[in-house]
Amino acid sequence: EKKREKYWMGAHELTVKLYQHVLLNTEEGKEAREYLENRGFDQNMIERFQLGFAPDSWDFLTSFLMRRNYDMDEMMEAGLLARREFDKKPFDRFRNRVMFPVWNRDGKAIGFTGRILGEGNPKYMNSPESSLFNKSRILYGFHLARPSIRKKNEAVLFEGNADVISSWRAGIDNGIAAMGTALTDRQVKMIKRNADKVLLCYDADDAGQNAAYKNAELLEKAGMTVRVAKMEEGLDPDDFIRQKGAERFRNEVIDSSLTYMGFKFRFFRKGINLQDEGNRIEYVEKVLQEISKLPRAVERDHYIRQLADEFNLSLDALKQELIQNFKARK
Ligand code: CTP
Ligand code: MN
Ligand code: MN
Ligand code: MN
Ligand code: MN
Repeated sequence: EKKREKYWMGAHELTVKLYQHVLLNTEEGKEAREYLENRGFDQNMIERFQLGFAPDSWDFLTSFLMRRNYDMDEMMEAGLLARREFDKKPFDRFRNRVMFPVWNRDGKAIGFTGRILGEGNPKYMNSPESSLFNKSRILYGFHLARPSIRKKNEAVLFEGNADVISSWRAGIDNGIAAMGTALTDRQVKMIKRNADKVLLCYDADDAGQNAAYKNAELLEKAGMTVRVAKMEEGLDPDDFIRQKGAERFRNEVIDSSLTYMGFKFRFFRKGINLQDEGNRIEYVEKVLQEISKLPRAVERDHYIRQLADEFNLSLDALKQELIQNFKARK
């Protein structure tokens, strides 16, 4: 089984080089070069992240691997090639896409995620699940970021590969992505073995913020300290960097991130009209509930004061309420 995975990884390594060659040196790669340039992906980013391009062809990679005597059944199993329904013949799985290699923790390519040039569906296409490519165990960019994650004792977790790459250009070298909003226990463990802290930097849309809420809890439960970045609605980290620049990203997003509790306060406030008394009471109750879960009295006190100040409420009344309704430890 180990031998088989090595064989697949060898094929992936060759394919990374082939796609990169197409992107950098061929006429077929011109449109993709322009696409990446327009997105602000420069030569350094292309090299570090080994970006490439799969040409618009059904048999480009297939015939390349065939010429090298690769076993076609194995290549289909490995996910580099797809199998034609009616005669089971192989063809290129990725066509006309910018290719982002995905690596294991040793930095060996084990799969790809391919992005369409411009608009279209599906926007991203991943290698199929296999014994080698198992999305629930992968953190994109992990082997590149790991030294910095250990040094800083903190990982920055993004949704997408583009966010990891752009933020690296903006000076964030401890960024990784779970390639989407799902986060598994396995991935949490991978992070935890290398750092105590995580900065969640998800997209500022409902899907991203709901996932940040969920994953922050998961990470805290695993004993990690979580901060959450905030951005204007509708942007993701890569958008922000492109529109407002690296310096503002570092200052206004990374360095101004919220504590876990601060994020929760903000999260609960969404869709709530604080002018409305019913809404306001509901919000205060929710926040009190969260405060009551805090293990340390000084922390509870800190947030109670914050809440009292914010709504001009009596500190004593809030404390009383906390003790009575939420059975907070005294
Ligand atoms: N993703 C995926 N399949 C999809 C959509 C997304 O696997 N159909 C993963 C990709 O790894 C992607 C990440 O989820 O990088 C984040 O998705 P999303 O925020 O939707 O990507 P965008 O920011 O919209 O992508 P881009 O910036 O390239 O337009
Ligand atoms: Mn999207
Ligand atoms: Mn998203
Ligand atoms: Mn996004
Ligand atoms: Mn994006």
